[in-house]
Amino acid sequence: MKVLVTGGCGYIGSHTCVELFQAGYEVVIIDNFVNSKAEVLDKIEQITNKRPFFYEGDARDIELLERIFNEHEIHAAIDFAAYKAVGESVEKPLMYYQNNLNCLLNLCEVMQRHNCKNLVFSSSATVYGEPETVPITEAFPLSSTNPYGSTKLFGEMILQDLYRSDSTWSIAILRYFNPVGAHESGLIGEDPNGIPNNLMPYICKVANKELPCLHVFGNDYPTHDGTGVRDYIHVVDLAKGHIAALRKINDSQLLDIYNLGTGCGYSVLEMANTYAEINQVEVPYQIDPRRPGDIPECYADTKKAERELHWKAEKSLTQMCKDSYRFTVNSQK
Ligand code: NAD
Ligand code: UFG
Repeated sequence: MKVLVTGGCGYIGSHTCVELFQAGYEVVIIDNFVNSKAEVLDKIEQITNKRPFFYEGDARDIELLERIFNEHEIHAAIDFAAYKAVGESVEKPLMYYQNNLNCLLNLCEVMQRHNCKNLVFSSSATVYGEPETVPITEAFPLSSTNPYGSTKLFGEMILQDLYRSDSTWSIAILRYFNPVGAHESGLIGEDPNGIPNNLMPYICKVANKELPCLHVFGNDYPTHDGTGVRDYIHVVDLAKGHIAALRKINDSQLLDIYNLGTGCGYSVLEMANTYAEINQVEVPYQIDPRRPGDIPECYADTKKAERELHWKAEKSLTQMCKDSYRFTVNSQK
């Protein structure tokens, strides 16, 4: 069975392509390398001994999508193609709505024309806005605090409307918590350009002495050590969640929503200290003011995914820290 993966050269997409191959699927990628590199294709091949079919181009390009669907019998699509930097989305909202929503809309349009109606969509825990309690279940109220979050919320609404209009679609909306880590081979991982916005890539650069120290955004939150708590999930576990979701939508026609997290929350200081200890490196830090828009605590209730997808994150924080560091060191070579 062939799966079209939009944004398949990116961080989560590349790990998902590896898992797709390992689960016996064939993989077709479309990516314009706006936030990834062509060498990822070689790395996927190095890990799996299989090379994805690849189309370089914009996932909004309907003609290119038509070509792909004409050249391959696509059974399902996984839509990763999007911009994802929250701060940038506040500065360039139109660019975010334009890219993130049109990637989804045009993909659905072409899929519908080709009667391919199995879709997995990358959503985010950001759609829970500022949750009142934790753990967060899929039934919690939704809101968004920035344009990036709105693109995910609207993406979900578009898919709900599409399914309401035609229940022969089968759609899994996956709300990721905080993906970290890298493939254990050290060949693929997350390597943002410039100064990272997210915690784990920032810690990696501090540990690797590319940045002088970690800025901890606030130590006065109502959490056990005052720093923000998040549900960090190993990217390989997350990638496996997509295989479970594909199985689910293959077996039944539905639209369903799943949290993909571990159900455990770790604080910023726990992350920095564990990383330093496990990898025998130094991660100096200083306490800075809170970052605007951050919430104190966020972690998933994972029961629905466990029950219905038969999937559960397995990798520990130690593995997340080890694998991140291995990739950082490897990518310097
Ligand atoms: P990423 O930036 O590493 O991957 C996205 C890929 O899509 C990149 O390879 C990029 O080049 C490609 N892309 C973007 N726009 C494109 C377009 N118009 N045409 C073709 N290719 C395009 O991001 P990621 O972390 O792998 O995230 C994948 C998905 O998961 C995104 O939809 C993101 O919003 C979502 N998500 C990510 C996180 C996270 O923390 N990483 C959390 C929640 C949800
Ligand atoms: N943090 C720091 N210093 C840093 C970076 C982050 O202290 O340099 C703290 C933040 O204040 C927060 C925690 O580390 O408490 C995690 O921050 P990230 O930026 O890594 O992640 P967020 O939870 O803020 O957001 C991420 C993605 C969003 C996504 C969300 C849920 O950036 O796009 O996870 O999936 F929506």
